[in-house]
Amino acid sequence: MQLIDGKKISKEIKDELKEEVAVLKANGKEVCLAVVQVGNDPASSVYVNNKKKACAYIGIESESYELAEETTEEELLLLIDRLNKEEHVNGILVQLPLPAHIDEDKIIRAISPDKDVDGFHPVSVGRLWIGEKGFLSCTPAGIIQLLKRSGITIDGKECVIVGRSNIVGKPMAALLLRENGTVTVTHSHTNNLKDITKRADILIVAIGRKQFITADYVKEGAVVIDVGMHRDENNKLCGDVAFDEVAEHTSAITPVPGGVGPMTIAMLMNNCVETVRK
Ligand code: GUN
Repeated sequence: MQLIDGKKISKEIKDELKEEVAVLKANGKEVCLAVVQVGNDPASSVYVNNKKKACAYIGIESESYELAEETTEEELLLLIDRLNKEEHVNGILVQLPLPAHIDEDKIIRAISPDKDVDGFHPVSVGRLWIGEKGFLSCTPAGIIQLLKRSGITIDGKECVIVGRSNIVGKPMAALLLRENGTVTVTHSHTNNLKDITKRADILIVAIGRKQFITADYVKEGAVVIDVGMHRDENNKLCGDVAFDEVAEHTSAITPVPGGVGPMTIAMLMNNCVETVRK
């Protein structure tokens, strides 16, 4: 069994980007990410800080916009409009979730598709599905990198995704299809889920339920990718997969933490660099 090391692979990617950014700088091209946070949800603050730290490591400028919880939708839309027009700002990231009085879909649509480094804008989503160049959703793009850089072939493989979210499940399906995988998307209404997951050569689990996937869901020798993040009864981090009983039946598996998690920021950084590559 191969333990897929997301920490190591994300570091490799960040180091490659650091070199690339140095070359871009030498050619007079700067990369700048605007990071917008509304309110001070502690989890969001941790994510935002990690994103800013990754920018600093790679040599990407980051501009912070920390707005009060009471900020109105109109005020946020005005800021996004200004950032869309700012020439030195290459990427705009609005940390989610937003306070309940702000319409998230409206905010996502207000970001220029040319600066949509999260890959959430409907234009980015459309480009992904028709195979046109554009920003890729960071977590699924990170999973493709984990597989490729671990020497796992996707072409021709039976790929089963558990979960159909806009952020993971759906874009994951598009990306695996692009790599010539045969893709099935399952979800909470799927009948006979086990029969389907047991067909998977590559099983991607993003269902948001603690240790839901047990050994009886997994084919012997499958590759298992766990997108979940929870706390178990001992307050230890764990995923959507019951790692201890599943791992021994796989040919490769991601741990939680240290699997998919670190890849999301690495791919966000890649999207930021992409803004000046094109
Ligand atoms: N909140 C949790 N994950 C994400 C993400 O990938 N992007 C943004 N903008 N907010 C998030």
